[in-house]
Amino acid sequence: MEPTKFYFLPKLAYGYNDLEPYMSEQQLTIHHQKHHQAYVNGANAILEKLDKSRKESTDMDVKATLKELSWNIGGHLLHSLFWGNLAPAGKGGGGKPSGVLGDAIEKEFGSFERFKKEFTQAAASVEGSGWAALTQSQQTSRPMIMQIEKHNMNVYPSTRIIMVLDVFEHAYYIDYKNDRAKFIEAFWNIVNWNQVNKRFEESWL
Ligand SMILES: [Fe+2]
Repeated sequence: MEPTKFYFLPKLAYGYNDLEPYMSEQQLTIHHQKHHQAYVNGANAILEKLDKSRKESTDMDVKATLKELSWNIGGHLLHSLFWGNLAPAGKGGGGKPSGVLGDAIEKEFGSFERFKKEFTQAAASVEGSGWAALTQSQQTSRPMIMQIEKHNMNVYPSTRIIMVLDVFEHAYYIDYKNDRAKFIEAFWNIVNWNQVNKRFEESWL
């Protein structure tokens, strides 16, 4: 099969109502099918625009185009990661990390509770719209928490993103209105630690 030259919306590994009561069917459906799809469509539209402009040798506003592309691709990739690090509560979701990730978190943060507190504070205090991310530095081998503003600002080059939490208002408004803290608290019940651990192990490759 020829690899696609465009982005596409990934299917979820669970049903739209499987993350309830922490994330409702309506919230997840709209978030995935409308918001995430919009970033996919946005990125593809710019790729088509670039193709056309190059083919016809026309000029374009390179700065604005690249900015828009970064926003849409960042949004698409982060949402894909987000869906992958979630699982239904009690069926792969929730609890604590084990394995090498569990050990690395204890070593870096002192305890899982301390990590959870710092990550929660990072997510709660992202300015405007953005993400909290757990990353792995390739240089220092330290797991690090990162705040990503919008989809693409404050991203450190050469760090592998292991786990993300979307704190755009569109991620929680249907379920929690403007109460971001309540959404962050609910998030811990649906973290797929096996998947996060797998990404952590792969980050060494
Ligand atoms: Fe989102």
